[in-house]
Amino acid sequence: MSFFESILNNINDAIVVFDTKGRLVYINKAGEESLGRSYRELRDRKFNSIFYNIPDIVEIIQKTLSEQRSFRKSATHLNNTDDAEIDIRTSLIFDESTKENDVDKIREIKGVILSMRENTSFATPEDYHFDSLLYLLSSIAHEIKNPLSGIKGACQLLLKDEMFKNNECLSMILKETDRLNKVLQNYLTITKRPIMNEINIHEVLEHSTKVLHSDFVSNKIRLVKSYDPSLPDILGDESKLLQVFINVLKNAIEAVSERTKGREIVITTRVSNDYVMVYDVENTCNTKEAKRQRWLIVTIRDNGKGIDQEQIKKIFLPFYTSKKEGSGLGLALSKKIVKDHGGIIKVKSKKLEWTQFNIYLPLRMVKRDE
Ligand SMILES: Nc1ncnc2c1ncn2[C@@H]1O[C@H](COP(=O)(O)OP(=O)(O)OP(=O)(O)O)[C@@H](O)[C@H]1O
Ligand SMILES: [Mg+2]
Repeated sequence: MSFFESILNNINDAIVVFDTKGRLVYINKAGEESLGRSYRELRDRKFNSIFYNIPDIVEIIQKTLSEQRSFRKSATHLNNTDDAEIDIRTSLIFDESTKENDVDKIREIKGVILSMRENTSFATPEDYHFDSLLYLLSSIAHEIKNPLSGIKGACQLLLKDEMFKNNECLSMILKETDRLNKVLQNYLTITKRPIMNEINIHEVLEHSTKVLHSDFVSNKIRLVKSYDPSLPDILGDESKLLQVFINVLKNAIEAVSERTKGREIVITTRVSNDYVMVYDVENTCNTKEAKRQRWLIVTIRDNGKGIDQEQIKKIFLPFYTSKKEGSGLGLALSKKIVKDHGGIIKVKSKKLEWTQFNIYLPLRMVKRDE
């Protein structure tokens, strides 16, 4: 392997090169991994047959060849199972013997380079909003907790007094303070860090479907599980991840229940084909540090009422709800838990047709000999 080839194989972006007729002449290792095909299989194949299921890529290569300039595009799906958003860009390879400023000669084109990168950055613009809201929420909860304990204590004292022993108002105050305390406790746990242990994600998923078993049965929902049995154990907080799966599944149950028939929820687990570049944005300064990461992906897809594009931007915000009885905290809590695991939660939806949540958890191999 040449020095340049080993450089290309160590780049995290997928690089694919086509000649001027659009036939594949080179693909690097990251490219083979993300397409799930080897160079041998792909060599000499035309770009439109390789990317027949991704019209955006076919279009961008066609335009690069016909207009002879570079293009960039994002939000393209790499394949149906991965359903990932990728950034794609093209550039041209010129014949080295013709110089750019050689006005007499038209620069001869030798081919097109296509590069692709899965677009999964940690810090989305809404994250700042999200973090400050959660901070506000837990600070308020903290401030309310102490005076509430005072109210409860005073109430209990009064109830011991002969004069107020059976006072209904006092009993009601006591009951309501207990209820409020429970709500506050939930808010306060938001900021608690997860306790990491070696866990099997399928066991956690099975536990969550057991908890919701009666909801699946009473709503006549078909539950399809497509687990990858070869998934390794990961490091995670079992009870917190259980909460995430219950929250997301409960939303799915509520969404499909609006259908009259054919209600279905599909849970899929797999390892992502791609190494995803993760950009950790530090709070104090703006340095972006990228690291290579492999993911375990849990997908929960329902064929319920879907979410429209305006609404989808808000669903992870605390208190955002479209339901009469909803608190709007389910997804906010889930996002916080997944973030605390070093993961990402993403959603895609088609109004009136389906919704899909992808939960990316970092695949850190559990060290057995420690
Ligand atoms: N699978 C889904 N299909 C359609 N809409 C969804 C789905 N999941 C979430 N949503 C939308 O996102 C909103 C926020 O969800 P979230 O779980 O945070 O709160 P909630 O379900 O309204 O209330 P809570 O979870 O506290 O009972 C929901 O009100 C709903 O509008
Ligand atoms: Mg919910």
